[in-house]
Amino acid sequence: METKDLLVEVKNLKTYFYLDEGTVRAVDGAEFDIRRGETLGVVGESGCGKSVTARSILNIVAKPGKTIDGQILYHRRTNDHTDILDLTQLPPQSDQMRAIRGAEIAMVFQEPMTSLSPVHTIGNQIMEAIILHQRTSQEEARELVIEMLDLVGMPLPERTIDQYAHELSGGMRQRAMIAMALSCHPSLLIADEPTTALDVTTEAQILKLMRSLQEELGMAIMYITHNLGVIAQMTENVVVMYMGKVVESAAVDTVFYNPQHPYTRALLQSIPRLGQTTRDRKRLASIRGMVPDPYALPRGCHFHPRCDRMMPGICDRQDPQMVEVEPGHKVRCLLYNGK
Ligand SMILES: Nc1ncnc2c1ncn2[C@@H]1O[C@H](COP(=O)(O)OP(=O)(O)OP(=O)(O)O)[C@@H](O)[C@H]1O
Ligand SMILES: [Mg+2]
Repeated sequence: METKDLLVEVKNLKTYFYLDEGTVRAVDGAEFDIRRGETLGVVGESGCGKSVTARSILNIVAKPGKTIDGQILYHRRTNDHTDILDLTQLPPQSDQMRAIRGAEIAMVFQEPMTSLSPVHTIGNQIMEAIILHQRTSQEEARELVIEMLDLVGMPLPERTIDQYAHELSGGMRQRAMIAMALSCHPSLLIADEPTTALDVTTEAQILKLMRSLQEELGMAIMYITHNLGVIAQMTENVVVMYMGKVVESAAVDTVFYNPQHPYTRALLQSIPRLGQTTRDRKRLASIRGMVPDPYALPRGCHFHPRCDRMMPGICDRQDPQMVEVEPGHKVRCLLYNGK
């Protein structure tokens, strides 16, 4: 099997929020790799640290949050060689971080209105990014924006370019945000639930578009979603997160056909798949119990109170370590520790 070159290595990443009520360990030792040109899916229930992981990579975690440990090694390709930069060591507002953010690593957020400015036209916002990162003239940038809007399937790009976000429909806003993210040809696009606000038809169009742009531009995508249908359709490798940790990682087919972590198995039974109607969704099983209170995490494996295969005296006492159960397939579960 061909192995693609590494693009980003996330190692033992810890990003905590320090609040009056206590410390939220939003990301607590996450580990995974993103390879050049691949699509990595990230799944897990609400609150398990997917968005905070994405923000940590871009170095935009807002106070009172802070990345306190670990490394994010970015293999940065320049003309003739590759440098390895640890993004956690770069000050968020440094020139180097700003040159990477938005241009080499771009993000499409869960909610488009949070990343589009209400007081600038769509065109001006995207042009600003292009002029900043590619040093083109105003006219050239405008031409590029119209091309990009056309590429993302925006209707009437010559007119839309001069409109404001509030004048656009949800699908058009999402397209504008994707156009902005892609305008500098990033080597990594982080897509955080990019289609949650959309109807199924528009969602399918956007997914198709992202796939074709990926082929054309050779970029990697880190795709965060609750929708396993989308994971199956879009990704090559998958990481499953629970309470700030990666609990299973493998090729997408392995995750679907040979999941090993009880949490992954439960997720597979509970998450809506593409093509299911809302009525089917209501009848789906949900995972027993609730995501724990982040201020009072259970001892041992954080999943043990909800786990079908919990081993008393073991799972409530020991911290599971990541084990490679077969090449390329890792599981953090005490069922496999010591084997
Ligand atoms: N700005 C913040 N201040 C305090 N806590 C935060 C902040 N942002 C995130 N958190 C906490 O960090 C944890 C992880 O949140 P995160 O947004 O990464 O979850 P998620 O996996 O993206 O969930 P969802 O699927 O709902 O988007 C949660 O407990 C959340 O409450
Ligand atoms: Mg999120």
